[in-house]
Amino acid sequence: MKKGYFITFEGAEGSGKSTQIRNAVAFLEKKGRSVVMLREPGGTRISEAIRAILLDKNLKEMTHVTELLLYLAARAQIVREKILPALKKGKVVICDRFEDSTRAYQGFGRRIPLSSIEQVNCLVRDSLRPDLTFVLDIDIAKGLARGGRHDRIEREALSFHERVRHGFLSLAKKEPKRMVVLDTSKSAESVSQKVRERLERVFGQ
Ligand code: TMP
Repeated sequence: MKKGYFITFEGAEGSGKSTQIRNAVAFLEKKGRSVVMLREPGGTRISEAIRAILLDKNLKEMTHVTELLLYLAARAQIVREKILPALKKGKVVICDRFEDSTRAYQGFGRRIPLSSIEQVNCLVRDSLRPDLTFVLDIDIAKGLARGGRHDRIEREALSFHERVRHGFLSLAKKEPKRMVVLDTSKSAESVSQKVRERLERVFGQ
């Protein structure tokens, strides 16, 4: 049985997730919560090794299905090795990206049917679902300019990244209770303020 609380941060490239995650962790720790911070793909030895393959800019021949299965393999490992054990101990787990990224990048971006992704997803994450997800929305050109275009995914065409952004927004429309969209054209501090307000609703003043 899960006792903890699972929060994910999602968004297109350069949306400022790292800053917002750091601020959220500091806020929750100040409230006395024990927080585990993870990233996807990654967070375990095996998942970090898979991450290196996924982001290698030289592996241009990778097929879309191979890419999907590697993201899911990395997730199958972190879910069982890190996320579920931490939640069982009552910790707050904050993950930089999770399965909404797969829906947005491999579903909307690569155009793999969402129904196919969901079939494998069930096996990967079992009954685990994020309790709360922040989607940091960013203008694609600005985000790519901020983050650079170094790895295999960042080097994709602008139109791919536009589909990813649209993907996140339409996923959020379908699940407004879980997914909170934040406009990052505002200052980082005002975005943090919105995150804190939402966390206060869950964890108390
Ligand atoms: P990061 O640079 O934010 O750590 O994420 C790594 C890249 O992997 C980023 O371009 C988004 C992409 N990604 C997917 O395409 N599918 C996924 O399921 C995940 C978790 C990330």
